[in-house]
Amino acid sequence: MPEKNELTEIKPGARVAFIGSESFPFIKTGGLGDVMYALPRALLPLGCEVRVLMPCYRCIPEKYRDQMEYRGSFMMDLTQDGRTFYVGIMELELDGVIYDFIDNREFFDWGNPYTGLWEDIPKYCYFAKASLAALNYLNWVPDVVHCHDWQAALVPVYLRTRFDGTPVSQARSILTIHNLRFQGICSIDHLKYWTGLPDYLFDYAVFKVNDGEANMFKGGLAYADRVTTVSETYAEEIQTDFYGEGLNGHLWYHRAKLRGIVNGIDIDIWNSRTDRLLPVQYDEKDVLSAKPVNKKALQERLGLMVDESKFVVGLISRLTDQKGLDLINAAFTQMINENMQVVILGTGDPRYENAFRYYENTYPGQVCAYIKYDESLAHQIYASSDALLVPSLFEPCGLTQLIAMRYGTVPIVRETGGLKDTVEPFNENTGEGNGFTFDQYRADLLLDAVQRAQRVYQEERDRWNAVVVRDMEKDVSWGLSAKRYLELYEELK
Ligand code: ADP
Ligand code: GLC
Repeated sequence: MPEKNELTEIKPGARVAFIGSESFPFIKTGGLGDVMYALPRALLPLGCEVRVLMPCYRCIPEKYRDQMEYRGSFMMDLTQDGRTFYVGIMELELDGVIYDFIDNREFFDWGNPYTGLWEDIPKYCYFAKASLAALNYLNWVPDVVHCHDWQAALVPVYLRTRFDGTPVSQARSILTIHNLRFQGICSIDHLKYWTGLPDYLFDYAVFKVNDGEANMFKGGLAYADRVTTVSETYAEEIQTDFYGEGLNGHLWYHRAKLRGIVNGIDIDIWNSRTDRLLPVQYDEKDVLSAKPVNKKALQERLGLMVDESKFVVGLISRLTDQKGLDLINAAFTQMINENMQVVILGTGDPRYENAFRYYENTYPGQVCAYIKYDESLAHQIYASSDALLVPSLFEPCGLTQLIAMRYGTVPIVRETGGLKDTVEPFNENTGEGNGFTFDQYRADLLLDAVQRAQRVYQEERDRWNAVVVRDMEKDVSWGLSAKRYLELYEELK
């Protein structure tokens, strides 16, 4: 891991403040947390200086809270009627990256980072403004404020309005869309109240949307100097009706500043050679002998029939309609067969949790529905399954297919967003490719893809094994993409 003091010089234009609502290892609910951890680290060896600003949630584990140091505090005005709020700055350094946690018990003293829009809107209005105020307070003026998703979308707006003329206003802004589904929408009065922002911003060019409400993401997209998505395909998709979540017109209008840069994964955390959470560690040279051993250990742990010849299909996911679970549901009874086992790890929408519980009861020893969030089990499933299912309705990037490939587990994906950009379809003629894919959002096509995969696994093992090894050799690190972000930062100088 590169340490900050290894750097010979910080590149001009490469002082970057990451602002977002979650980051591994402090708090992670999905891929945003992974990116907020891994991308700053990947930027360090390129000559960037990175600070990450995020809320100081009560649910951050004690072991990290104990390492935080108090860096100062001040009162900040926020609302339309001039109410002021405490802003504390708690700091810690991890692997060369400085984390500044914005502390306020009124907003962040809950068990979960996200507690419903009614509370989340004020929470992230406060967070956006407090982050910029903290940068001024710390006297650390970045070249770029790199903001993530709707929770940080007000930062570019504040930067050019309330913070105009202050030191931090020298920074340019980038807003990265990890998921356009969530936008931070409320009544205009509510947002006006909590932001204290001037009336002229509440028109159609900035916050206002068609039904007369205010949309935080929309405002940020209008004000950011650059907008990025986490894959190239998603950058195109969101300019269409189907994927645009109501903002396609707005994104099309701002398309000149839109770029797609595909995510990578942290290859130190996701390293099957050193992963202590695996019964047997391996790399591309011994994956073919290690996987059956890991598979048996997983089957034992989860109460599945212990048999290394079964085709084990994993699913690790937030259980929401985004992830294509309706297709799985529609195809499940035709898909499952005596040579297949399915392992589901996820939490979310009760209707999916219950559907998977039902399959577990109906197919004992063949299906396991582990309805929990469990990092350590995730590692074991990535390593021990033969295939990983990601049939998403939409997928801005998707990290699970990248992790799967790195662990020699063949992805079965729908060709959308980052799934399309990262998984080359298996070619029946040449045997080339990284996984099994289908295009339209249809259950029969998902079924066909799973059946094709199972057939190759069972009848053409050499070709299957070649895909496994090829997947492990594929570069899924942040290397190239971190360079593309650096180029973008430099473009803004
Ligand atoms: P999204 O951000 O849309 O949820 P991604 O594929 O980008 O999807 O990232 C999901 C991340 O969350 C991955 O690191 C995955 O391993 C992890 N994850 C999802 N669900 C679980 C779970 N139930 N237990 C452990 N890790 C999970
Ligand atoms: C979002 C998207 C996912 C992406 C992740 C990290 O949560 O749903 O596709 O991989 O952000 O960028």
